[in-house]
Amino acid sequence: MHDATLAPVICLDGPSGAGKGTVGRMLAQRLGWHFLDSGALYRLVAVAGGKRRLDLDRPDALAGLAHGLDCAFGWDARGRERILLDGRDVTAEVRAETTGAAASRVARHPEVRAALLARQRAERRFPGLVADGRDMGTVVFPDAPLKIFLTASADERARRRHKQLMEHGISASIPDLIQEIEARDRQDRERAVSPLVADADALTVDSTGQAPSELCAFIVELAGRRGLF
Ligand code: C5P
Repeated sequence: MHDATLAPVICLDGPSGAGKGTVGRMLAQRLGWHFLDSGALYRLVAVAGGKRRLDLDRPDALAGLAHGLDCAFGWDARGRERILLDGRDVTAEVRAETTGAAASRVARHPEVRAALLARQRAERRFPGLVADGRDMGTVVFPDAPLKIFLTASADERARRRHKQLMEHGISASIPDLIQEIEARDRQDRERAVSPLVADADALTVDSTGQAPSELCAFIVELAGRRGLF
């Protein structure tokens, strides 16, 4: 039974391009809950590290950066996502596919992960939180009352990533994206700390061929049945 003294969390974990971001944002909006895009934090550490010309394979300075990360998330007048780092708009850099790969390198370091933990947990506020990532259910919110592990075929994930990148004005080829996505997922699955893996309590859902609105409705129903709202 869900502990009503704690804000409920719905964890959405899974490989890149499985639809976590789209479904998660929709779900948060539908429920009126907060949304945590944990991948954006790793991406921001990679961007901040790049700007300072830090070696992404050396954890000490990166962990310091992660700890003091000065960032903000919002939307512009046209409803497009805007991400600020030290007060400057870095949205396009954060969303670039090369930053995804750099984030995956940065995310291998336990020091960096530890430095981002408190910031992620602080997002757990009433009426509830939808948390998107790789280790939401296994590490960040292990007591979450609902954990979904979202998957999709590599082709479909690459197509979705392609659409997202185009929306951000970034061009890419689908075959290249398939390769990049598979390489990044391998690195995420095989790392020693907080690897990408479904928690024992998680429900695995294959989103291939499913509309985000259908997935969202399915998760809302599950959450309702578990008494989360
Ligand atoms: O979700 P997104 O593609 O933005 O994540 C970028 C990278 O950040 C992932 O490939 C993964 O290496 C890392 N990440 C992580 N743990 C999370 C979220 C993202 O290690 N909770």
